[in-house]
Amino acid sequence: MKVSVSPGHNINGTLIMPFFEGTESVPDMHAEGMHTALKSQINMVLNDGDFKSKAKSTMSLMGGDGGKAMLVGLGKESDADVHAYRKAGASVVASRKKAHGTELTVRFSGASVECMAAFSEGMMLRDYSFDRYKAIDEDKEDELDVRVTCDVGQETELSALILTLSGVTSGVHLSRDLGNMPPNDMYPEAFADQAWEWAKDYDNVVVTIINYDQAVKAGMGGLVAVGMGSSRKPCMVIFELNADLTGRGPMLVGKGITFDTGGISLKPGANMDEMKYDMGGSATVFGTMQALAATGFAGKVTAITCMAENMPAANAQRPGDVITTLSGKTIEVLNTDAEGRLVLADGLWKAAEFDPEYIIDFATLTGACVVALGHEATGLWSNDDDFRTRIHEAGNAVDELAWPMPLLPAFEKEMTDSKIADTRNLGAGRYGGANTAAAFLKQFVPNRDYEKDGETIPWAHMDIAGTYWGSKTNTMVGNGATGIHVRTMYHLITNG
Ligand code: BES
Ligand code: ZN
Ligand code: ZN
Repeated sequence: MKVSVSPGHNINGTLIMPFFEGTESVPDMHAEGMHTALKSQINMVLNDGDFKSKAKSTMSLMGGDGGKAMLVGLGKESDADVHAYRKAGASVVASRKKAHGTELTVRFSGASVECMAAFSEGMMLRDYSFDRYKAIDEDKEDELDVRVTCDVGQETELSALILTLSGVTSGVHLSRDLGNMPPNDMYPEAFADQAWEWAKDYDNVVVTIINYDQAVKAGMGGLVAVGMGSSRKPCMVIFELNADLTGRGPMLVGKGITFDTGGISLKPGANMDEMKYDMGGSATVFGTMQALAATGFAGKVTAITCMAENMPAANAQRPGDVITTLSGKTIEVLNTDAEGRLVLADGLWKAAEFDPEYIIDFATLTGACVVALGHEATGLWSNDDDFRTRIHEAGNAVDELAWPMPLLPAFEKEMTDSKIADTRNLGAGRYGGANTAAAFLKQFVPNRDYEKDGETIPWAHMDIAGTYWGSKTNTMVGNGATGIHVRTMYHLITNG
């Protein structure tokens, strides 16, 4: 999608007009330069109540004299915040088949620069399809050419905002691409190669790959155990943005299971194909780095993704195995399908090496989190209440909900109750599975400088099992990988 900003009232192609609920006629200012027949037609549908301007609704009209328009509802004026504008913009693209052509001119009536930018953001976010595997694609649509009109004097600020939002959108779309890729083509080394190639585009980015042999040597027993049963060997990918700056920066860690069969504790067959998105955490992390790099973020940010394919095989790990992680802690593996926490154990321990300001991990970690929160909210745990609140608020600011969940000593106790090892990868029963998983991870977040009694590093865990895929109510997405939390992280990191 091409988006340009221009002050004034020229109309190219189809006119896109957002209205508040209850609008009964086109305001005069809004109507300048419009074909007369089109204007009277719009006035008719508004006046008759055929188009009520309910949130996310659209209606296409064609005037007898050749003018074309799409009306889009913003909902009630009192509720019309940036989120309403963003959703309305997405609705336009979602119903673009009705939009008669690829040239669109958006005309607002009295919207703030932030709201106009949010509308454009919604259009850009929704302008996504994953069609690279279609040899024949009859639905393929031509690129949209969008002109956002504004008042004279607003254009500089509006174009700058839209440019930033388009950089962030490129991060969301990268995350979605990675999540939608089939697992035969998106395996640990393929992810690492893509990161390596990507780094060449930016001179302030360094990507380091810890391959299988190096992971074995380093003692990354969690990553190695999960990935060793696959012919596609595991690896760890480290992303560093502006690494030469002094001082601390955020650290993001992602679960990157490119396919989760469950391993020897094999999953049932139904919908197993969806387990290709078990690398959603790593996609969130890579997408966030892209958003930051593309928008020219000048601060230091580091990220680690733990990539492995969880397969059953003669050389796969077994339930009952005891493994030694990078931290030195041993884990009794009671279920090979609880593999995300094993790779993250090494990723979180490694993270402290970079002396980060804070650590946030992203993982499609548990089915239990989907049971608890459905597809509407990400589970959010933290060892620091204020930090958790900041993340929750960053999510709210961009309309990506993350809901606070408890980290309790009782859950931690449940996870350390192994007869033969320091800890176990399975809770005692099936209840509270998302919480026991979070408590398990907490054991692998070291204190600063790895000192036993040292300062706690603020850490948060985000379980995106329910939100990274198939969020039916999310207007910004459509279907497949959602790319959630790239925008949350961009907001959190760039707003201090
Ligand atoms: N990748 C799954 C979690 C998952 C489930 C993600 C549904 C997305 C949708 C994870 O590795 C897993 O299998 N977890 C087990 C843990 C259990 C064995 C303790 C689960 O949730 O059943
Ligand atoms: Zn699993
Ligand atoms: Zn998994």
